[in-house]
Amino acid sequence: MLGNFTYCNPTKLYFGQNALDNLGEELKRYGQTVMLVYGGGSIKRNGIYDRVVSILRNCGKRIVEDPGVMPNPTVEKLYEGCRIAKENRVDLILAVGGGSVCDYSKAVSVSAYCEGDPWEKYFVRFEDVDNAIIPVGCVLTMVGTGSEMNGGSVITNHSQKLKIGHVFGENVFPKFSVLNPEFTFTLPKYQMVAGFFDIMSHILEQYFSGTDDNTSDYIMEGLLRSLIHSAEIAVQNPTDYEARSNIMWIATWALNTLVAKGKATDWEVHMIGQAVGAHTDATHGMTLSAVSLAYYRHILPYGLPKFRRYAVNVWNVSPEGKTDEAVAREGLEAMERWMRMLGLVMNIRELGATEEMLEGIADSTLINQGGYKALTRQDVLEILRESL
Ligand code: NZQ
Ligand code: ZN
Repeated sequence: MLGNFTYCNPTKLYFGQNALDNLGEELKRYGQTVMLVYGGGSIKRNGIYDRVVSILRNCGKRIVEDPGVMPNPTVEKLYEGCRIAKENRVDLILAVGGGSVCDYSKAVSVSAYCEGDPWEKYFVRFEDVDNAIIPVGCVLTMVGTGSEMNGGSVITNHSQKLKIGHVFGENVFPKFSVLNPEFTFTLPKYQMVAGFFDIMSHILEQYFSGTDDNTSDYIMEGLLRSLIHSAEIAVQNPTDYEARSNIMWIATWALNTLVAKGKATDWEVHMIGQAVGAHTDATHGMTLSAVSLAYYRHILPYGLPKFRRYAVNVWNVSPEGKTDEAVAREGLEAMERWMRMLGLVMNIRELGATEEMLEGIADSTLINQGGYKALTRQDVLEILRESL
C-alpha cells in the first residue's frame, strides 16, 4: 500500500428487507422539519412514498416536499431546493430515490446557507464548505452510484454544457442510508443494467491505476467477480433477491472510499462519460458503457501488466502460450461479451451524439492524471470517434 491515508466512513447503513423499520429510530435524532426529496414519481407508483410518509407522520415530523428531481439534476433545480430548505429552516433532508436524488440532496445540504453562487463555489472553483450543512439521510431505490455512502454530488449545467462532480468530505456523507434491495425491483431494465455498469466502471476507474501490490486491487477483483456473476442472474430474473442484494452491496463498496485507499485512481471514463452526458443528458451508466472499451483499448499498452492481470483474475482468461498483450485483449473481449449480454448501450450515437458534437464534447472533458496515460485532447477526440 503506497502513500499515507486516513480512513473514516461515517454513514450508518441499514441493509435488507426490513431496513426501513429503522427509519423511525433514526429520525428521532433530528429536529422537527424534514425535507422529503424525491424524483419524478416512481416512489409514488411503487408504494415507497406512502411507507416513508407514514413513518414521518408517526414520528410527528413536519414534512416539506421537494419533488421532481430529474436524472442528472440541474443547477436550476439546485437553486430551487436551496430556497425551499432555507425558507423552511429544515432540520434533515431525506432523499428517497437514486443517485440523482441523493446527489441533489447533498448539494442542497451544503448550498442552502452558502454565501454566493454554489455552482461557482463548489462545481467550478471546488472550494470546501465553510457554512452550515443540513444533515442528509437516504432511502435508496436505484443501485449504482454509491452516493448512499459517499460525499459525491454531480450537478449538470446545461447552459454551460458542463456536468461536474464535487467529492465532498465526511461532513457531507449521508448520516444514514436505508438499503432494501426489494426497493429496486421496480426499476426498468434499462436503468437496472445502466446501474450495473456504473458499478463496474467505479471499480475499474480505481483498479486501473498504480503498479504496487495493493490490497485494494484484490478486494476489487472480488467485487468484480461477484458483480459479473450476480448481474448474469439478475438480467434473467430481475427479482432474484440474492443477486440484487449482492449487487446493492457491491455498489456501495465500489465507491465508498475503501477501495481507493493507496490508489492513484483514474476517473477518465467518468470525465468523458460526463461530457457526453452534458451534451446529451443521457443516462449516466450508459454514457460510461458507450466509451469504456474504446478508452481501455486506447490505454492498454500503457498499463499492460494490469490489463493482463484483469483478464486472468477477473475474466478467467488462460494465459498459457499467449503474449501479455493477447491475454490483456482477451480480457476486454470477455468484458465486451458480458456488456452485450446485459444489453448496454455500446456507442454514443445511440445516446444522441453526432460527429458534429465531438469537438464540443472533447472541450467539456476534464483530463485527469491518475491513470496509465494522461490523455491529450487529441486522445479524447480519437476515443470519442471510436465510440461513435
Ligand atoms: O425520478 P424517478 O421517477 O424516481 O425515476 C428514476 C429515474 O428516472 C428511476 N428510478 C429510480 N428508482 C426507481 C426508479 N424507477 C422505478 N423504480 C425504482 N425503484 O430511475 C431513473 C434514474 O434515476 P437516477 O437517480 O438518475 O439514477 P442513478 O442512481 O444512476 O443516478 C445518476 C446520477 O448520479 C450521478 C450521475 O452523474 C447522475 O447525475 N453520479 C453520482 C456519483 C456519486 N454521488 O458518487 C458517482 C457516479 O459516478 C455518478 O456520476
Ligand atoms: Zn458513475
